[in-house]
Amino acid sequence: MANINWYQHGNNINGYSAMEEKGIILCSLADVQLRFLCPEDLDEVRALCQDWFPIEYPFYWYEEITSSNSRFYSLAAVYKHQIIGLIVAEIKPHSCLNEEDAGILAKNFRDCDIAYILSLGVLKEYRRNGIATLLLDSLLKNLTTPERGKVKAVFLHVLTTNSAAIMFYEKRKFRLHTFLPYYYSIKGKCKDGFMYVLYINEGHPPWSIYDYIKFMCGRVIKGAGFFPWILFNVNKALGWMLRNHGSLNEDHH
Ligand SMILES: CC(C)(COP(=O)(O)OP(=O)(O)OC[C@H]1O[C@@H](n2cnc3c(N)ncnc32)[C@H](O)[C@@H]1OP(=O)(O)O)[C@@H](O)C(=O)NCCC(=O)NCCS
Repeated sequence: MANINWYQHGNNINGYSAMEEKGIILCSLADVQLRFLCPEDLDEVRALCQDWFPIEYPFYWYEEITSSNSRFYSLAAVYKHQIIGLIVAEIKPHSCLNEEDAGILAKNFRDCDIAYILSLGVLKEYRRNGIATLLLDSLLKNLTTPERGKVKAVFLHVLTTNSAAIMFYEKRKFRLHTFLPYYYSIKGKCKDGFMYVLYINEGHPPWSIYDYIKFMCGRVIKGAGFFPWILFNVNKALGWMLRNHGSLNEDHH
């Protein structure tokens, strides 16, 4: 896992109109620090996730994401010594994806990697302050470094009813890829899910007819500079042929 420096963000975010109820308005994100999770965070992280997500994660999952040599990219946003947000992601080979996620990349990228966001959450009273944006930006910054060039897409699953998360990801240019009926089992009930994807490092979804048409149009537009040259030469050739044909005909007469 790449090192990440403590990150300070200088945006002034005064003037938020749609704050969460009883939300805390941070005047600046400069006091919010980013750091990787560590084993001491386990209880705090577990309490946060139990509050945010309807899904119960097994205890070993919390051990894994807070472990010092974790395979996960587990980043916390800390404000006044308290974790107020976190993102957990992992990178895996495209070939290891579950069946329902397998069609994310075009065939020519099938031996590339893909990043999966397992969790992203922000403490209720700190929402709409740009904390999730800060965490996602940090992940994307890491995934778009030259060493991570093999990672061609980032994806996640979300409940179809989670409008806040859907609006957040759509704002960040994630696109709806698949509707997953009965994807979740929550307290014994089946719930539908969506899969959202963001393509990075020139990753591309499987090619559709629309993509082929777009590609062909692009080629034609690119070649537009040659058109006058082609027209000039076709014109010249036609003129030559007509002249020769005409003179041949005159000769015959
Ligand atoms: C989704 C979540 C992580 C967003 O965190 P956040 O820190 O509030 O997000 P940001 O402040 O960075 O929001 C950035 C933009 O996303 C959109 N957005 C975020 N929350 C929104 C909401 N509740 N309603 C509408 N748009 C929203 C807005 O466009 C927002 O920009 P704006 O505030 O300038 O209008 C947070 O609501 C959360 O923790 N939800 C519970 C856990 C969860 O469902 N996680 C997702 C699992 S897939």
